[in-house]
Amino acid sequence: MTKNKLARGVAVVGTGMSKFGSFKDRTSRDLFVQAFQEMKDSLDQPLDPGRIESFYLGNFSSDQFEKQAHFAPILANWIGLSPAASTRVEDACASGAAALRQGAMAIASGMYDVVLVGGLEKMTDLPISDVTEALATAADTLFEIPAGFTFPGFYAAMATAYMHEHGAPEEVFARVGIKNHQNGALNDKAQFGQSIPDIMASKKARAVKKGRPEPTWETEMDFLTDPRGNPMIAWPMRLFDCSPVSDGAAVALLVAEELAGDFNDNPLYIVGSGQASDGALTERSSLSHIPAAAEAARQAYEMAGLGPDDIDLAEVHDCFTIAEIMASEDLGFFEYGQGWKAVMDGKTARDGEHPINTSGGLKSKGHPVGASGVGQLVEIWKQLRGTAGERQLPDNPRIGLTHNVGGSGQTCVVNIYERRD
Ligand code: COA
Repeated sequence: MTKNKLARGVAVVGTGMSKFGSFKDRTSRDLFVQAFQEMKDSLDQPLDPGRIESFYLGNFSSDQFEKQAHFAPILANWIGLSPAASTRVEDACASGAAALRQGAMAIASGMYDVVLVGGLEKMTDLPISDVTEALATAADTLFEIPAGFTFPGFYAAMATAYMHEHGAPEEVFARVGIKNHQNGALNDKAQFGQSIPDIMASKKARAVKKGRPEPTWETEMDFLTDPRGNPMIAWPMRLFDCSPVSDGAAVALLVAEELAGDFNDNPLYIVGSGQASDGALTERSSLSHIPAAAEAARQAYEMAGLGPDDIDLAEVHDCFTIAEIMASEDLGFFEYGQGWKAVMDGKTARDGEHPINTSGGLKSKGHPVGASGVGQLVEIWKQLRGTAGERQLPDNPRIGLTHNVGGSGQTCVVNIYERRD
């Protein structure tokens, strides 16, 4: 029996992120510095970098994407933290949240009082075939890859299983994308800062400019069901069901709860954290949900003494649109088989009963894989402190949850954050 509690309280006192996107003219170090500077600006007191005792970097594969391994001490030195202990944490697309958990545990153990957590990935310098191959190394190379899977294929298999088991129509995936693009259009850090109607309008304008016939799409569904607007990637996952290939960085400063006031007058607290693992997709009895996510959520709720209905908003791992629907069920917001209906009924929209991915999610905000888990915290930070601008949730949200998945569901980390006042 694990104790499943933090032996000392941990506060989040600052967060920052770079814009996510494709930046050919900038290095990953540039993006990381931008996130670090923004984190410093979010503090109420000036930061003495000498107070940072340890650094955990969530990074999936700078060795494959940039031919740079051992990145944590290099980045730490770049921002003036040497000789602080610096460690890279790799758990595929869940690397960011796993790094946050390591940072929280380092403080809870009493080993450190002040810890910097970062997430970083620079993916766009490689051609797409090499990116796909690099991402595939997060899969099980004995069981999953020889079966012919790449990541869109994994989630396509989960989507078909979900449709078969629960009678969900293909349309529901488009509805998730429409919502997340709408939210991302209100986020100046998002890779696709455009709603689907905005994207349709710019594609029409481009066609006219090139002297081609103007596409006749009128509604979002016209566009999203047209292979010219939204080509199939792996049935039933189309282009607008996939998160993009992205560059980006995000940073959070964690401190022992009793020191929070030295840094910020309005911190958040980590009140729940869970992490679980699983085998390959081929070993699971059902493909329509992710057991590691349900277990990580169970642990996090137990630690927090909270349940799904206490969560005011969630940032979940929508690497593909089906993943958001499965997450909404694994996290207990909806019964198994009901998540797709909740999307159709608008329950996960900003004005719904369970707002999900107000940032735009990985789908629209972007998915620089190692940075995504920390980027999710940045949105929770903004929403709980009332600084999310046009996409700010009403009713003074107080409790936020992040859900970050690695591989086809071999890792999941769920963290719960609270504002107290
Ligand atoms: N959603 C919407 N539009 C996208 C997009 C996405 N995910 N990815 C690219 N686009 C758009 C581009 O903006 C571009 O639009 P434009 O023609 O209007 O300028 C167009 O599609 C072509 O872009 P390109 O970069 O050439 O696309 P691509 O074919 O190289 O990549 C995917 C598309 C779907 C293959 C790629 O985004 C992908 O592999 N995504 C999944 C990443 C992944 O598996 N992550 C890990 C998850 S666990």
